[in-house]
Amino acid sequence: MATATVKRIGVVGGGQMGSGIAQVAAMHGVDVCLFDVDPQALSKASSSISNSINRLVSKSHLSQVAGADALKRLRFTSDLEEFRDADFVIEAIVESEDVKKTLFVQLDKIVKSSAILASNTSSISITHLASSTCRPSQVIGMHFMNPPPLMKLIEIVRGADTSDETFAATKALSERLGKTVITSQDYSGFIVNRILMPMINEAFFTLYTGVATKEDIDTGMKLGTNHPMGPLELADFIGLDVCLSIMKVLHAGLGDNKYAPCPLLVQYVDAGRLGRKRGIGVYDYLKSSSLL
Ligand code: NAI
Repeated sequence: MATATVKRIGVVGGGQMGSGIAQVAAMHGVDVCLFDVDPQALSKASSSISNSINRLVSKSHLSQVAGADALKRLRFTSDLEEFRDADFVIEAIVESEDVKKTLFVQLDKIVKSSAILASNTSSISITHLASSTCRPSQVIGMHFMNPPPLMKLIEIVRGADTSDETFAATKALSERLGKTVITSQDYSGFIVNRILMPMINEAFFTLYTGVATKEDIDTGMKLGTNHPMGPLELADFIGLDVCLSIMKVLHAGLGDNKYAPCPLLVQYVDAGRLGRKRGIGVYDYLKSSSLL
């Protein structure tokens, strides 16, 4: 499929990534339909996209007309059947292989035969997701970074059967959305998370074993290595549940104990301390003083 023919995108999952991806596509002239199983997530996505676009307009980063046009290109639905006319679908739901596979089976039946099915997964095998469909050559990883409207990178992941045409169309679409592309083969964690997540996990071990406070760990990595955010702050931003899921995939897929998730990360997730999206993770965003 040539990128010029991508007129309508379906985005599945209206959480932090799906809503950001929908916003980017709408701001670059693509009609977008956003689906979520949770009606509350849909209304939250709708207001967060509107707020974000209105902020860009008020700061003169986007003209009023362009902002209004982008908002007109967005549709929100709780009926997946509305994806029938999508040329390209981007999945951004919970990081679980079983849940994603169930969705890919559904999508494969609903969307037209020429459509490409892309996953924004951080770590799950594209080949596995593709094998649950009857169109493995049209399944690909399209990994946006968080937050999608600001981050310039898209990591494209080729599954074992991804065709050159699917790759070319996904790369062209990514560039049309103003992003720079890197390409990874389909191994656990791909490029970015294979390197980033063990660092975040090690920061948890550094905290867990009492080597240093969370503030000193974050300050150390910010001022010592010029990272814009410390690894624990970044984990809260990404979502501790997402970090834990990725560590589990790295551990299972690469088979080395060095990827075992830190018990403290596991405990926080068990306690519902998922990071900024829940108001509490490593840091407490609801109180002025932080925990631990
Ligand atoms: P999130 O938890 O903010 O949002 C997930 C959304 O998916 C929720 O609104 C939920 O209601 C919805 N959902 C769950 N199951 C569904 C289903 N079967 N059908 C439709 N909607 C469903 O998660 P987030 O952070 O947006 O992550 C989504 C995906 O993006 C994951 O695969 C994650 O690994 C990946 N990702 C996350 C990044 C991050 O920094 N959080 C960065 C890059 C990729």
